[in-house]
Amino acid sequence: MIQTAAVPVKPLFIVLVATLSLLLLVSLLSPHTPLPQSSSVSLSEKVDIWSVKRMVEWRPCEWWLQGHLTALPAKSNGYIRVDCYGGLNQMRRDLCDGVGVARLLNATLVLPKFEVAAYWNESSGFADVFDVDYFIHQMNGFVKVVKELPSEIASREPVHVDCSKRKGHFDYIESVLPSLLKHHYIAITPAMSQRRDRYPKYAKAALCQACYSALRLTRSLEKKASDLLEAIPKPFLSLHLRFEPDMVAYSQCEYSGLSAVSMNAIEAARGDKKPWTGELAQIWRKRGKCPLTPNETAFMLQALHIPKTTNIYLAAGDGVMELEGLASVYKNIITKSAILSGDDFASMHGNTKAALDYYVSINSDSYIATYFGNMDKMVAAIRAFKGLYKTLFLSRRAFADLTSKGLEGEELMQALWKAHMDDFVMGIGSALPDCFCEFKL
Ligand SMILES: *[C@@H]1O[C@H](CO)[C@@H](O)[C@H](O)[C@H]1NC(C)=O
Ligand SMILES: *[C@@H]1O[C@H](CO)[C@@H](O)[C@H](O)[C@H]1NC(C)=O
Ligand SMILES: *[C@@H]1O[C@H](CO)[C@@H](O)[C@H](O)[C@H]1NC(C)=O
Repeated sequence: MIQTAAVPVKPLFIVLVATLSLLLLVSLLSPHTPLPQSSSVSLSEKVDIWSVKRMVEWRPCEWWLQGHLTALPAKSNGYIRVDCYGGLNQMRRDLCDGVGVARLLNATLVLPKFEVAAYWNESSGFADVFDVDYFIHQMNGFVKVVKELPSEIASREPVHVDCSKRKGHFDYIESVLPSLLKHHYIAITPAMSQRRDRYPKYAKAALCQACYSALRLTRSLEKKASDLLEAIPKPFLSLHLRFEPDMVAYSQCEYSGLSAVSMNAIEAARGDKKPWTGELAQIWRKRGKCPLTPNETAFMLQALHIPKTTNIYLAAGDGVMELEGLASVYKNIITKSAILSGDDFASMHGNTKAALDYYVSINSDSYIATYFGNMDKMVAAIRAFKGLYKTLFLSRRAFADLTSKGLEGEELMQALWKAHMDDFVMGIGSALPDCFCEFKL
């Protein structure tokens, strides 16, 4: 620069540059000189995890986006209704799988049934949550969908073919097609582990389209959700925090240092699931089986250099325990209950709240989850679909592994930073490989 500068350079400037270069050289030549603790912290705090350069990005696969180019079969093999159970995001997962199956079997899809879930204690059908006409429109060319059945079969219930408990090499053509051909109208609940890799591409494409491109909340629900989104201060992080009594009880993990209230709530939810103890508890924890506490979550957010002033929307159920562990560090926590009016909130269905969390999370600046559940997988994929890549899953395994080695404080933070940075750079967890393909940046 200096040599090529057209204007004569002032001697004082040269001296300054030379001095600075010398200082730089000295610091480069002595990399083992320990920097004062405070300066290394403030240096590293300048970049948060999102500023790290990514090398891999997951984008919708070509065969999905072009899947509708394969002509639908001239003749349908019959009608299929997909019956979905569980929480909102699990029902949605079942729906996607069912749509794939319907296309695989050259069937016509009837609107799915979203079952009254014991977990939610409510009834909220598909049409209460999702926009039916939009769904039908978006599936055009991928699979045939009808609102109404032909009169000759409309009067009867479909024959149930329950595949939900089937595992491993489950072949729908072999096991389900005969029932479809015989009864003309069947209801299925898809198997949890199916051999999607063996599907023809057009069936996979139908699944992807249904899952990630055909579901839009109903108008009234979307209005509620966008009002909520609007009320949240920007920019913001949506944090899916899972530390509810039933979840902790189910995990069979033991925690020390929780309040008596939390301990009692966990104990009450345990049933016959007793926590592991001793060495087994150690092994279990190291396998990443134990939910992160809000306190541990706050620690990990700091390790990722997420500033303590960050606006954090809590995408979580009402029962999260020990929230002070997070709120004492991150002061700008925003909850649904604080924003929505009391009466409205109190009368709101569980599925409705889940839908709001989902909507906010696919529109937030960044998304971090302490778990890798149905909602997290769905949110991550939709974010990738929309080109939003500030998405990360906190690694329970890394946390357990590093703490078991005795790491703590700054040392632990740096090791956690490293572990998550590697995930972020490679796009790990940012989308499922079912419908998204790796794209090297
Ligand atoms: C579905 O139709 C395609 C042709 O469009 C055919 O190749 C395939 O074998 C059919 N599958 C079933 C299960 O009927
Ligand atoms: C379900 O809701 C009804 C009415 O809202 C209530 O009476 C009942 O106790 C609830 N059941 C459970 C298991 O929460
Ligand atoms: C949270 O964990 C830290 C250690 O990381 C500990 O010093 C602190 O007391 C804990 N706070 C709460 C509220 O449990």
